[in-house]
Amino acid sequence: MTTYLAKPDNLVMRQTKTEAVKFGVIGYGYWGPNVVRNLDQLDGSRVVAVSDQSSAALKRAAKAYPHVLVSPDSADVISSAEIDAVAIVTPVWTHHELTKAALENGKHVFVEKPFTSNAAQAEELINLAARKNLKIMVDHTFLFTGAVRKIRQLLNEGVLGDVYYYDSTRVNLGLFQHDINVIWDLAPHDLSIIDNVIKEEPEAISATGQTHLNGHEDIAFITVYFPNKVIAHINVNWISPVKVRTTLIGGEKKMLVWNDLEVDEKLKIYDKGVDVKSQEGVYSRLVSYRSGDMWAPKVEQVEALKVELSYFIECITGNTDPFNDGHAGLKVVRMLEAANQSLSKRGEVVYL
Ligand SMILES: NC(=O)c1ccc[n+]([C@@H]2O[C@H](COP(=O)([O-])OP(=O)(O)OC[C@H]3O[C@@H](n4cnc5c(N)ncnc54)[C@H](O)[C@@H]3O)[C@@H](O)[C@H]2O)c1
Repeated sequence: MTTYLAKPDNLVMRQTKTEAVKFGVIGYGYWGPNVVRNLDQLDGSRVVAVSDQSSAALKRAAKAYPHVLVSPDSADVISSAEIDAVAIVTPVWTHHELTKAALENGKHVFVEKPFTSNAAQAEELINLAARKNLKIMVDHTFLFTGAVRKIRQLLNEGVLGDVYYYDSTRVNLGLFQHDINVIWDLAPHDLSIIDNVIKEEPEAISATGQTHLNGHEDIAFITVYFPNKVIAHINVNWISPVKVRTTLIGGEKKMLVWNDLEVDEKLKIYDKGVDVKSQEGVYSRLVSYRSGDMWAPKVEQVEALKVELSYFIECITGNTDPFNDGHAGLKVVRMLEAANQSLSKRGEVVYL
């Protein structure tokens, strides 16, 4: 049975946003309110309905957005003729079923990371969206941060030279997830970033980790192997006493440190490195260490989710495919699956 806790009454907003893409949002827990807030504020979109199985969540949504329909039944959002696109902000095990239902009902889909629980589900959704000419965007929010956009620019312009390694530490105390391990919770961020900024395609993965508290690994170390000796390492942990969000990218010409907890100088580029020269006719190698200047490039201060949702609206209205589409989501899911497989064999290398 459908219960509507609030009805549309904000006619002023409806009149000023007549051309807007109309959204339904499923899931109003921790992250859902951020999605609703941005879609409500953007000129190109309007939130028509919010669904959540929790009555407490629905009450919060109805209080914050009295003009929006709220319902405990996601089918009300998915089948509504008034809605063009659905944002799915629920736990990963629900993503496949909800995305499939939304696509079958002719809706474009913005779905949270990780895209699905396995690669077969992702492939099915990609094919369904293609058949129906609908868009899927997977919320890889970090790709829209000023820091990652600057990193991509620096790498594309060759400022760092050829990449040697990407080494990320993403640790904090909690938030424990009940349905997935720490890899599926935190590593999608780094896996989507490396897929986006490293030109080579990953070849293999190895992962180790341990379960201490609730039956899911709460600490893990993932290594991703790429061609041309590029290597990535990701340290994810829910039982760290301090929050750390630090990534090092070592390049042939320069080295970069990204501290995402810094407010002003998130990125620092170091003109440091090692030059190795072989002398003709001499077997010994000459190694010299370079230690030059450090500089902090300007990083745009934007709410990444706002930029991303605005881009999704452009993709829908302009009928273009987002770069963070189902295929990008599938690549991350494949790496997550390989990491889990390796984890169960104490770090055995799994080829992609
Ligand atoms: N992009 C990011 O930076 C980011 C940050 C946090 C969470 N997330 C992702 O967002 C998703 C949700 O995470 P969260 O932390 O908000 O979880 P959460 O548990 O706080 O909220 C999920 C909400 O979905 C509701 N729900 C579950 N199944 C439903 C269904 N079938 N119909 C309607 N409502 C349903 C629950 O009642 C709950 O309120 C996850 O995939 C997570 O990985 C992404």
